[in-house]
Amino acid sequence: MKKVKVGIVGLGRLGMRHANNLMFQIPNAALVAACSVRPEEAAFVKDNWGVPSVYTDFDQFLTNMEMEAVVIVSPSGQHCEQIGKAMARGLHVFSEKPLGVDVPQCKQAEQAVEAHPELVFQLGFMRRFDPSYAAAKQMIREGKIGKPFLVKCTSLDPDSRIDSFLPFAPTSGGIFRDLTVHDIDLARWLLESDVKKITAAGGCYKYQELADCGDVDNAVALMEFKNGTVALFDSGRIAPHGSHVETEIQGTEGILRIAVVPEKNRVLIYDHTGAVQQCTEDFLERWREAFLNEMIEFINCVSEGRKPEVTVYDGTKCTEATYAATEALRAGKTVELK
Ligand SMILES: NC(=O)c1ccc[n+]([C@@H]2O[C@H](COP(=O)([O-])OP(=O)(O)OC[C@H]3O[C@@H](n4cnc5c(N)ncnc54)[C@H](O)[C@@H]3O)[C@@H](O)[C@H]2O)c1
Repeated sequence: MKKVKVGIVGLGRLGMRHANNLMFQIPNAALVAACSVRPEEAAFVKDNWGVPSVYTDFDQFLTNMEMEAVVIVSPSGQHCEQIGKAMARGLHVFSEKPLGVDVPQCKQAEQAVEAHPELVFQLGFMRRFDPSYAAAKQMIREGKIGKPFLVKCTSLDPDSRIDSFLPFAPTSGGIFRDLTVHDIDLARWLLESDVKKITAAGGCYKYQELADCGDVDNAVALMEFKNGTVALFDSGRIAPHGSHVETEIQGTEGILRIAVVPEKNRVLIYDHTGAVQQCTEDFLERWREAFLNEMIEFINCVSEGRKPEVTVYDGTKCTEATYAATEALRAGKTVELK
């Protein structure tokens, strides 16, 4: 079997999961190079997994002539520059979300993708690859709920993981760009339209330190779409019970609800507290299949010369919406997208 030779940049919380999938879970992928500014992470994959070439500098990493494709899992503000450099070097690119932390950056990434129609580009909106969301989308396509007109999205990160989030917070771009961006992608995908205007509210209800980097720990946004449909987003960092992502899609003939309880498995524990359902602990557990499925799709697109469904333009549209949501939250006013 011919393997797609991949390099990865970023070996942090999520980078290690993608690296693990590429190394051990995807038979037609070979992880041939890795790059992290933290030398101990690069040394780990070399010493423990046998990744042949490791780097601590991105430009040096790009001189590796074995790679055909790059997976970018570096901090959000670096994605667009790295996309541009990698594509200029003739490499297929998978980039984590968000595409960029501002719109001019995203436009640069669009130019890089447009300049290389022969290369595959995929953005990491992995929720579309979760089996339940994929099934819901298929049901909508089949008309099972009529015409969808309202999407309600809850995305609550677990309080138990706040210590790993706080160091990442200053480079995250804020709650809408970092967390709600996934739900905005889902809403655009499910409602088949783009955001027209946004109202938002929120605050630091538990972690005041997030205010130092202009962020909040909980926020709500209401978005009206160009086709007249509506989405409501409720995002937070302090869920006491686990990683909770729940979505409701209302249509003219029915309603779909996905993951109302973020169940870890199908076991119910009956004890002195009642009937207890354990919940998924963090995003790595909740989206295990989605992270694997999206990477399988990227590798297959490269080897079959196909273009993925998730495009660079989805990234720009979502970044535009998250930027406007951040402005709506800070200014306390409704923001209309151009
Ligand atoms: N799809 C999702 O659900 C999801 C979840 C978590 C994170 N992410 C995204 O993944 C990206 C990484 O997030 P994380 O939580 O893994 O961050 P992290 O801080 O844990 O890891 C960042 C990694 O990038 C490396 N790095 C930083 N600057 C670099 C450079 N110039 N060259 C090479 N390596 C560099 C660091 O050494 C580290 O290995 C972010 O953009 C984030 O938004 C997506």
